[in-house]
Amino acid sequence: MSETAYPPLPLPTAGPCRRASLAPYCDRVRLRLSPERYAHVLRVAELAEQIALANRFDAGELRATCLAAVLHDVAREESAARLFELAPPESELERTHPMALHGRAGRVVAEAWGVTDERVLDAIEGHVNGPRPGDRVAMALYVADVSEPGRGVNDDVRAMAMTNLERAFRRALEVKIRYLTGRGKTVHPRTLQVHDELTEPTP
Ligand SMILES: [Fe+2]
Repeated sequence: MSETAYPPLPLPTAGPCRRASLAPYCDRVRLRLSPERYAHVLRVAELAEQIALANRFDAGELRATCLAAVLHDVAREESAARLFELAPPESELERTHPMALHGRAGRVVAEAWGVTDERVLDAIEGHVNGPRPGDRVAMALYVADVSEPGRGVNDDVRAMAMTNLERAFRRALEVKIRYLTGRGKTVHPRTLQVHDELTEPTP
């Protein structure tokens, strides 16, 4: 069935998808995801917008944050074969864990859809393995993804993000590293690198 066979949903009343300029992206993402995953995307987008507003992002940063949040998981439900096609693996870890590629693959999809803002593209790519510290748009998305209320965890990270985004980002990285190592899973070297680049310890 083609994408146009599905009628667009009514605009949500909250979050970035209520904006007419972003609604078409929301619809395209919805067609690629399960209802549960799309609900996650809407929650991440709403929280990312709140974080951006609380941290006084300028209008450009705010829009970039909202668009990145809407698009961040666009490749999350692609097959391993498709992920390899969109974002060829660069390590053994990525070959054996194709899902580690869905950020880079999402960036490629966004570019194909005409997105050119590097802040948006970097945030989509960075939301899986860790963005560049100091990139406020990407940090807002990373933190929102880790702490959106539907996850039922990391309420402290969500609250912290409203007053100190950098600290919340560091805490979010720590949480992810602890989660993975606690389950005997390999942490992507990029995540460890970003964590090590952050010098300020979390009080
Ligand atoms: Fe994701």
